[in-house]
Amino acid sequence: MTSIDHTRRMLVRHLGGLAGIAAWSPTFLLAACKENAATGTNRDVATRHGLPDEGFDADLRLRAHPDTVPILSGTPSEVWRYSVERLSGPENTVTPMSESYPGPLLRLRRGQRVRVRLENDLPEDTTVHWHGLHVPPDVDGQPRFPIAPGKSMTVTFDVVDRAGLYWYHPHPHGPEGGRVGFQSYAGLAGPLVIEDETESALGLPAGDQEMVLILQDRSFAGDNELTYFDSGMGSMMTRMRGFLGDRILVNGQPPETRAVGTQPYRLRILNGSNARIYKLAWSDGRRVTVIGTGGGLLAAPERRPFVTLAPAQRIDLWLDMSSARPGDALQLVSESYGAGMMANMKGGAMMGEMMGNSTGGAALPAGTRFALLKLRVTRSEHGGMPLPEHLARDLTPPRLTIDTRLRRFQLGMVMMRGFTINGRRFEGATVADEETVALGDTEIWEFVNDTMMPHPMHVHGLQFTIVDRRQIDGRRGGASLAAGVVDAGLHDTVLVLPGERVRIALTFTDFDGLYLYHCHNMEHEDNGMMRYYRVRA
Ligand code: C2O
Ligand code: CU
Ligand code: CU
Repeated sequence: MTSIDHTRRMLVRHLGGLAGIAAWSPTFLLAACKENAATGTNRDVATRHGLPDEGFDADLRLRAHPDTVPILSGTPSEVWRYSVERLSGPENTVTPMSESYPGPLLRLRRGQRVRVRLENDLPEDTTVHWHGLHVPPDVDGQPRFPIAPGKSMTVTFDVVDRAGLYWYHPHPHGPEGGRVGFQSYAGLAGPLVIEDETESALGLPAGDQEMVLILQDRSFAGDNELTYFDSGMGSMMTRMRGFLGDRILVNGQPPETRAVGTQPYRLRILNGSNARIYKLAWSDGRRVTVIGTGGGLLAAPERRPFVTLAPAQRIDLWLDMSSARPGDALQLVSESYGAGMMANMKGGAMMGEMMGNSTGGAALPAGTRFALLKLRVTRSEHGGMPLPEHLARDLTPPRLTIDTRLRRFQLGMVMMRGFTINGRRFEGATVADEETVALGDTEIWEFVNDTMMPHPMHVHGLQFTIVDRRQIDGRRGGASLAAGVVDAGLHDTVLVLPGERVRIALTFTDFDGLYLYHCHNMEHEDNGMMRYYRVRA
């Protein structure tokens, strides 16, 4: 008891002062500290970013703070989380996700002007990034604009993106490395739905028939304390592979059973995990019907045997239960797959075990099969709408010509140090010539994965289309996930499997300045697989 308390206080001290935080600090019980956390009494408005101070359709107050919430049965867990208060705006703007840590579901409407006061009650710097949204750089939650403990920042922006599922999460990166992995892991992440008229006109399943699911994996120590990295050799392997937890959580809770009726459902799924890739399938072998991706609805549904969902990606699924009968059950599962180097790293696991560390290698290796959600049919319903064969009408293909500029980004690895983009690692706001684009231009970016690991590549500030995907080095594996990759529609994060070359088309509109692009495996990102690019007016 005493020794645990002592350890905790030690860890708390690490959390409390930035100086003590090494990017790769060893074993972390996530112990929040109420004394050290800012009380908010001394708060000033640090900065104001964005639009003038008038006419907001929604006005929110978002607070990042330590808390204690029930996750597993037994002792509640200490987490960091977002709480959001609606000061003004439509009533459905803020909806809690669960009793657990995920931030509330924010529901915005295209065309709205939004103001959010961001308050940092954590013991370290943070930012709030609106993942997938087309917003100006100073509203984008970049590491350049940290909010210090006890401070706040007010951001304002117009909602211009298509209807879809986006999300918000922290994006701090200090001299010691990134804290995205740690802070998201601690619980800071929430879903953001944008609605628009085009989508509403389709009358897709809503209310009880719309489910928003955040998939994450976590590890717990004895008293339900969240643990992040392990000490010893295992941790280096973890950093290279990215963090994999021992337990799957959906909306911050162990997978649950939901009662459904004999009608269609819309499942909107966010992979909010640090590094885990999901191979989503139905337990009865039925095809997975995809109606949308991270940037909104597809032009037409796609049916797949399974869907591959990498960190930060979202997928919108249609599930028709009309022909089911009360008593029937169906599970959403993540199927097993050959994960190659992503799987349990033998060396790391062995070393971890030798050091008495049972999770030196993940207890739930990449590619393990598990259930995410159980649906049990409890009632008959009538008159569910059929799946529309035409969905979005507002998707226009990018205008590509023989003169469209092509930029190549080689994804590589430096032994013992981590992953690189064109041989470079994160250097703050330093931008290379080849990372500068012109406002208004359309370009093709080509990601070439020369490593043994998949990299979900994310570009801030816009949605892009995927032009082409080719396996150029078959020896590197990753094949077992390829059939589930959905490339249609709009995306902000594209999975580049080992040995693949993927080309995307992007258009840089409206805002000039610096934005980030990076791998969204959060441990890769925190360890330097991230760069700024500049949009020059
Ligand atoms: Cu979701 Cu730069 O991140
Ligand atoms: Cu982002
Ligand atoms: Cu990566």
